[in-house]
Amino acid sequence: MDLGFRGEVADFYHRFRRGYPPAVIDSLVAAFELTSDDVVVDLGCGTGQLTLPIAERVRSVVGMDPEPDMLLRGRSAANGVANVSWMIGSDADLPALGRLIGGRLGAVTVGQALHWMRHEELFHAVASLARPGGGVAVVTNGTPLWQQDTAWSRALRGYLEDWLGSKVTNTCGTDDASQRRYRDSLTAAGLEPAVVSVDYADELSVEQIVGGVYSALPVDRVPAPEQRPGFAMRLGEVLQPHGPYVEQVRVTVLTGRIRSGR
Ligand SMILES: C[S@@+](CC[C@H](N)C(=O)[O-])C[C@H]1O[C@@H](n2cnc3c(N)ncnc32)[C@H](O)[C@@H]1O
Repeated sequence: MDLGFRGEVADFYHRFRRGYPPAVIDSLVAAFELTSDDVVVDLGCGTGQLTLPIAERVRSVVGMDPEPDMLLRGRSAANGVANVSWMIGSDADLPALGRLIGGRLGAVTVGQALHWMRHEELFHAVASLARPGGGVAVVTNGTPLWQQDTAWSRALRGYLEDWLGSKVTNTCGTDDASQRRYRDSLTAAGLEPAVVSVDYADELSVEQIVGGVYSALPVDRVPAPEQRPGFAMRLGEVLQPHGPYVEQVRVTVLTGRIRSGR
């Protein structure tokens, strides 16, 4: 399976994508009452943005992803963390992994990755595999940089659309309609839905915006190394009238919980 999260894109992802604030990890621990007895599967773990902070709070975490380059970056960032296993696999592999873990499976977390998965099947699988009180969490990490409601984001969108020669419309599952669909599917799978959001503001540099864009492009669309200075310079000029580049980040944590009394 080639999703484009490989080679340099994995490097850009690792360097430029945001992690999650501690309040997000706290809300996951609270939602599923996670303890040092629990195992968590972080599905679509990428380079470990959720995997590593969750590992500090539970017995162990399996970071699972189909892209070996993302897993390699995650493993090198883990540097000495002893309770994370990095495993190649996709949502289709969760039933087998869940059986292996057995009654200790406290939660399956999915950060910015559900739009790549068969979410209805995934939610049903979690409903039959996780312990009572456990479940699945669908986490979004802000709105894509080029989809935000600010002048600098609109300028970025225009620049990317000119450069790519096509509209950039993908919201990566962060839009209200997708979130409603996920919530309905949690209920249909017999899970109890709840949502928590964590808001904060952060100012970005042009370098961070450029890196964030490269991290989201298919690997064959990332500008060649010799084109990058020109790409960054022209984008900097387009953005310049709209600074400072403040991003209002909203992290949403949509959880589907197995009722404890089952
Ligand atoms: C946008 S990254 C998210 C990484 C990280 N979880 C985060 O929150 O930043 C999406 C990840 O999902 C992975 N992915 C794509 N399809 C998948 C699937 N069917 N099952 C599991 N992971 C998948 C990709 O390889 C990629 O690493």
